[in-house]
Amino acid sequence: MKSKINWTAFSKKEPEERIAMLSEKMLLSSANQDYLKKQALLPLDVANQMTENVIGRLALPFSLVPNVNINGDYYQVPFVTEEPSVVAAASYASKIIDKSGGFKTKLQNRQMIGQVALYHCDDLVKSKMAIKEAEKLLLDIANQAYPSIVKRGGGAKSLWTEEKDEFLIVYLSVDTQEAMGANMLNTMLEAISSELEKIAHADSLMAILSNYATESLVTATCEVRLNYLSRNKEEAKILAKKIELASKLAQVDIYRATTHNKGILNGIDAIVLTTGNDWRAIESACHAFACKDGQYRGLSQWQFNTKTQKLEGQLTLPMPIATKGGSIGLNPSVQIAHDCLGNPKAKELAQIIVAMGLAQNFAALKALTNQGIQAGHMKLQAKSLALLAGAQHAELPLLMKQLIKSKPMNLETAKSLLESIRNEN
Ligand code: HMG
Repeated sequence: MKSKINWTAFSKKEPEERIAMLSEKMLLSSANQDYLKKQALLPLDVANQMTENVIGRLALPFSLVPNVNINGDYYQVPFVTEEPSVVAAASYASKIIDKSGGFKTKLQNRQMIGQVALYHCDDLVKSKMAIKEAEKLLLDIANQAYPSIVKRGGGAKSLWTEEKDEFLIVYLSVDTQEAMGANMLNTMLEAISSELEKIAHADSLMAILSNYATESLVTATCEVRLNYLSRNKEEAKILAKKIELASKLAQVDIYRATTHNKGILNGIDAIVLTTGNDWRAIESACHAFACKDGQYRGLSQWQFNTKTQKLEGQLTLPMPIATKGGSIGLNPSVQIAHDCLGNPKAKELAQIIVAMGLAQNFAALKALTNQGIQAGHMKLQAKSLALLAGAQHAELPLLMKQLIKSKPMNLETAKSLLESIRNEN
């Protein structure tokens, strides 16, 4: 059981104070505490092992969303994002949703799918039957190609075929345990492809994992009590109904659906990235899932339940993430992220990630249907603009205060306000 932590005024502290609070709450190993205190970056030699033609490292802000209640456990969720207001919005939503009972999550399955695309098939029906009859042999070949995953309790589990145009596509489903499984799948698929060519009397065009991870679905749900939408009961009801309408709008209009889903992915990417996972894979999986019935739609649904008088949210996403493999063990900042979360297994991490997508979506919809996005977002963006305009630390509070009141709030305005402040002093 992970308990709630009393982080008094966490958002108002300086980074050094937040690190001290983390150490005090024993969320980090001593090596990771030292690492954070030194503010060291990914060592260059490690970066050079991770990819090619390396000349440096790119740093991004590493933040924490405190006390996210998921199935009764409280998580301190690491977020990496360059965008102002994303962390504030996730914290805000998580706080309200905690007070309303927390997130509930459910993992529907966790297997990865790969495919071998066959073509030049003389007789598709005969080829399909031959592959069906050889299913056990093919699964054995796949598992022999990657025995370590079988020892860990995973491995190739099932195989099926589908005809699409001139292709006979063979799909392989693999239990990848703690890994995302790209190398595992690709090794297994390449191992079975020559046998498939023989069995099906066909040629193999390619053998590759699919990022459309429909066997790694996770659902997060939550309820929001009306009193957290507004102190005024009638206003709260109107807002709950507007959030329901906003969810409907994202089902019927692709322009809105794309932005709606971008907001969800603000939360998803921030944790996928910091836990060392492949965010391009998750992005492509989520966008493909958004058009599973042929039209691109909003990924979440919100309803105002008139019986319970609560706003109910739901989000289902493919979430094939890993806690082992890839660069996860190499990057010390990624280790810190896993430490902060209490080193969850892949299935647990997938559920935390989807809950953060729903949190982010709730904050955005509440702002959009209420005071508008600019009020909260721009308040936090003021700091970025002030820094970009060249403000020194001491000049920030006054410049930000003036900037929030100014229209248009942009870099030009920030520069001219900074000039006036300097001229007055
Ligand atoms: P507020 O009501 O002014 O916040 O909302 P508050 O000052 O009363 O603080 C309430 C809580 O919010 C705090 O509790 C924090 O948890 C959190 P406390 O710690 O004080 O007990 N919070 C913060 N946490 C860290 N640093 C901060 C901070 N401020 C508040 N500086 C807020 C302000 C920004 C939260 C609200 O207006 C909001 O949620 N806005 C939505 C912002 C958003 O969605 N941003 C994402 C980027 S916009 C985008 O790209 C996506 C979009 O297009 C998606 C879509 O269209 O669907 C919008």
